[in-house]
Amino acid sequence: MARKKIALIGAGNIGGTLAHLIGLKELGDVVMFDVFPGVAGGKALDIMQSGPVDGFDSAMAGTGDYADIAGSDVVIITAGFPRMPGMSRDDLVSKNAGVIAQVAEGVKTHCPNAFVIVITNPLDAMVWVFQQKSGLPANKVVGMAGVLDSSRFRLFLAQEFNVSVEDVTAFVLGGHGDTMVPLTRYSTVAGIPVPDLVKMGWTTQEKVDAIVARTANGGGEIVKLLEKGSAFYAPAASAIAMAESYLKDKKRVLPCAAWLTGQYGVKNLYVGVPVVIGAGGVERIVEIELNATEKAAFDKSCGAVQELIDASKKLVG
Ligand code: APR
Repeated sequence: MARKKIALIGAGNIGGTLAHLIGLKELGDVVMFDVFPGVAGGKALDIMQSGPVDGFDSAMAGTGDYADIAGSDVVIITAGFPRMPGMSRDDLVSKNAGVIAQVAEGVKTHCPNAFVIVITNPLDAMVWVFQQKSGLPANKVVGMAGVLDSSRFRLFLAQEFNVSVEDVTAFVLGGHGDTMVPLTRYSTVAGIPVPDLVKMGWTTQEKVDAIVARTANGGGEIVKLLEKGSAFYAPAASAIAMAESYLKDKKRVLPCAAWLTGQYGVKNLYVGVPVVIGAGGVERIVEIELNATEKAAFDKSCGAVQELIDASKKLVG
């Protein structure tokens, strides 16, 4: 069987890390597109030259021509501008909506059957712009945010409990950003829900609240430290988990920005919910019952996403 083809639109910090992970995991061949094709080509060559050391054969190429992404099985989009200190993800709308509209045209023309993962921020609005502009089926277009947010949440919980990250599961809903909704009652250590762990004296509610707040601000904490640019290792790893589930038909249950058609009382919006990703793209949306507090937080988050979409509509129609 021929190797899969993965197109990375944007060869910056996340794009380069994605290509490296694709090689290490032998997921397929890579074409990296960027407005600076030299950067894409240089990174492609550099990563391919690590193949003999690490034992992978993925072919990698950089390009500035959309025709080279033709026939891609998966497209991962990071094109655009990252956050700088003092900027919110929302400040990026005006810069990135136009970029995503261009990318949508390129993908629609050259690989309309691909499974597309959007990472560019503000995520929930950019994945919406991509789907509207490309016209690709909504089950084949998802946004990467929840896997990253829940990974951050899992790490902080594991550190608090002094247990392996592998044994911590986390559940987050809503938009990517300050209004995301971590559901502690569905977040567990080896199946024991966090509220039970509070009762068992493993931690306190105050500490859990602080972890929730740190998770919601997880990206901002890194932007402040880096001083130029934003997080890229964990975002790349998160998108790769989604791509792998699609390519290998693993049917993993992952929190992603998905197109809602009435689930959770929301219609025609991309927002973070748990979904099953398999060979059919988004094969199922997992809809749980929310209590009043959770529902209020989720609705607030959806309101914030809607505002960003309205702002994007004004920019790219
Ligand atoms: N078409 C293709 N590539 C573009 C375009 C465009 N119209 N505009 C910018 N780019 C490229 C840049 O040249 C750069 O190489 O996108 C790349 C972005 O890379 P970085 O600036 O390193 O940003 P990165 O950290 O990878 O984040 C990308 O993901 O998490 C989000 O907020 C983050 O929106 C940002 C995106």
